[in-house]
Amino acid sequence: MRPLAVSFSVLSLIFSVVAKTVTYDFNVTYTDANPDGQFSRRVIGINGKWPIPTIDIEKGDRVVVNLVNGLPDVETSLHFHGIFQNGTAYMDGPAGVTQCPLGPGQKMTYNFTVNQPGTYWYHSHVKGQYPDGIRAPFIVRDPKGPYAGKYDEEVVIALSDWYHDENPILFSRFLSVGNPTGAEPVPNSALMNETQGMPFNVLPGKTYMVRMVNMAAFAAQYFWIEGHTMRIVEVDGEYTEEAEADMIYLTAAQRYSFLLTTKNDTSQNFAIVGSMDQDLFDAVPDGLNPNVTGHLIYDSSKPLPDPEDVDAFEPFDDFTLVPLDGEYLWEDPTYSFSLEVLMDNLGDGANYAFFNGITYTPPKVPTLYSALNAGNLSMTPEIYGRDTNPHVFKHHDVVELVVNNNDPGKHPFHLHGHTFQLAYRSDDDAGLYNASDPSVTFSKKPMRRDTVLINPGGNMVLRFRADNPGVWLFHCHIEWHIQSGLVATFIEAPDVMQQTQKLPADHLEVCTGQNLPITGNAAAKTDNYLDLTGQNLSVPPLPAGFTARGIVALVFSIVAAFLGLAAIAVYGSQELKHKTA
Ligand code: C2O
Repeated sequence: MRPLAVSFSVLSLIFSVVAKTVTYDFNVTYTDANPDGQFSRRVIGINGKWPIPTIDIEKGDRVVVNLVNGLPDVETSLHFHGIFQNGTAYMDGPAGVTQCPLGPGQKMTYNFTVNQPGTYWYHSHVKGQYPDGIRAPFIVRDPKGPYAGKYDEEVVIALSDWYHDENPILFSRFLSVGNPTGAEPVPNSALMNETQGMPFNVLPGKTYMVRMVNMAAFAAQYFWIEGHTMRIVEVDGEYTEEAEADMIYLTAAQRYSFLLTTKNDTSQNFAIVGSMDQDLFDAVPDGLNPNVTGHLIYDSSKPLPDPEDVDAFEPFDDFTLVPLDGEYLWEDPTYSFSLEVLMDNLGDGANYAFFNGITYTPPKVPTLYSALNAGNLSMTPEIYGRDTNPHVFKHHDVVELVVNNNDPGKHPFHLHGHTFQLAYRSDDDAGLYNASDPSVTFSKKPMRRDTVLINPGGNMVLRFRADNPGVWLFHCHIEWHIQSGLVATFIEAPDVMQQTQKLPADHLEVCTGQNLPITGNAAAKTDNYLDLTGQNLSVPPLPAGFTARGIVALVFSIVAAFLGLAAIAVYGSQELKHKTA
C-alpha cells in the first residue's frame, strides 16, 4: 500500500538525509470480507477497503495520520504498537489512557516522528476492536542499518487469527455468567497477510529480509518454511545478533525479522506454515484447521506442496537472543515491584483477570490528562484511581518488574513506550519468583523486546529504564484478557511531562465533543485530586465461599429452571389448543 500523500521537503530532494513527512488520510468504515473463504462478514476497514493499509516509512520520518471515525455506531482510536512516542506520549492511542475514544463522526490527527527502525504494527485500542479487522503492519525501514547490505529485498508476512463473529458478540458471551471458567472464544481460522494460500514468489540464490508480525486477537502461531532456515536479526524493533532457527513462535503482538537465503535451484516449491498454538484453547472445536499455509514459489509451473506433518513443535527460544548493541543487564534497580496474575470470578459471575487483585477499569479522565493537570500530586498513584492499577516511576528510574503467573495459561505481556530486558524467565509451573533460588540466573546481555511470553504457572523478571515520560499500559495482548482486565497503568515522570508535553487541541475536542472531562483525577474531581469519590470501580467480588464451580452449578440450575418454565409454557399452550379445538 502506498501512502496517500507523500510530501518531501525541498531539501530532502537534494540531500536524501533529511527526513520526510508521510501523511495518511484514514476514514474508518465498515466493509465486507471473506478472508478464509468460509464465511463473508462485516469487517472494520479503512477508506472502504480491507485489509487496511500498511504504514511504510523510513527511520527518521514524521508520520501524520488524519483519522476520521466513519463508523456510525462505535468508538475507535489507533495505537502504534512498539513506537516509543518519546515526547509525544499523547499520540500513543489507547482510549481512556492517552486520549478519549473517537465517537462516530469525530476526527483527530496523530503526528509523531519515528527514530526507531524495525517491524511494528498499528491497531485500534478501544475495547476489543482490532480483531474485527482494524490492524496492519507498520514498517520502519533502515537503509543505513547494520543489516542493510545483507539482503536483496524486504517482504512482510503478517500472521493473524480470524473469527466469523464480530467482537462485541463474542465479548458478551465471553465475559458473562454463562462462561464462569473464562474460556476464550477460539478463532475460526488462521490467516497469513489476512488471507490463505499466500504466494511468496522468490528468485534463486537471493536473500530476503522477511518482516513478520502476529496481529492476532488471541492465537500464538508456530511458523516455519519447509526446507529453509531463518536467520533472526530483529525482534520487536530491536536488532539482534544473527541467530538460526528452523521454527519460530510468535505470540499475539510479537514481531520477528529474519534473513532467508533461497536455494540455487528452482526444481521445487515449498510450503510456508503457520500453526496456531492449540494449548491456548480450552476446547478445540471439531473441524478446526489450526494451520494457515502459503508457498515459497521458485517456479509457478511446479506443484504447490501441502505441508508435511511435524512430530513436535520445538520453536526457537527467544530468551537466547543477544541484542546487537551488546547492552548489558541494567543493574541496581531503583524501583522494584511485582504483578501477580490471577483469573477469578466477580460478583456478576463472570470470570475476570487480575494483577495484584485488581481488574482494570478505565478512569473517567484519560490517565495522561490527569497526570498533566495534577501539579505536584501527579507523583501520587492514588489520584489515578484504584482500578487503573497505577504505578508511578521517577525519571530515569531503573525499573524491575517481576511477573508471577498464577494461571495455567500462557500470556504475552506487552509494555507500551518501551522495550524491556528479559532478565529471567522460568519454565512452566515454577511457582513464585524467588530471587535467592540458586537456579535463578539472569541473562548478562538480555534480549529486549516489547512483548514477551510468560510460561504457564511460571514467572519472569523484566527490567527497563524510565527514560520516556508518559503514561504507558502494561497488559496481556490477548484481547480477551485486556477486556477482562489484565492491564496495569505505568505513569512515568509525570513531573517532566508537565514541563515538556502539551495536549493538541484536536485531541481535547474529541473529549469535549462528547462532554467527557479533560481535567481532574480518575474520578474527574478537579478541586481536590485526592478525593476519588465516584471513581469507576470493577464489579464487586463474590460473596465469600463462592467458587467458579459453584457458579457452574448455579448456571446449570438456572438453565434447568428455564427448561422447566419452558416445559410448563409448552404444556400450557398445548392445553389451550386442546380447549379451543
Ligand atoms: Cu498492541 Cu496496548 O497494544
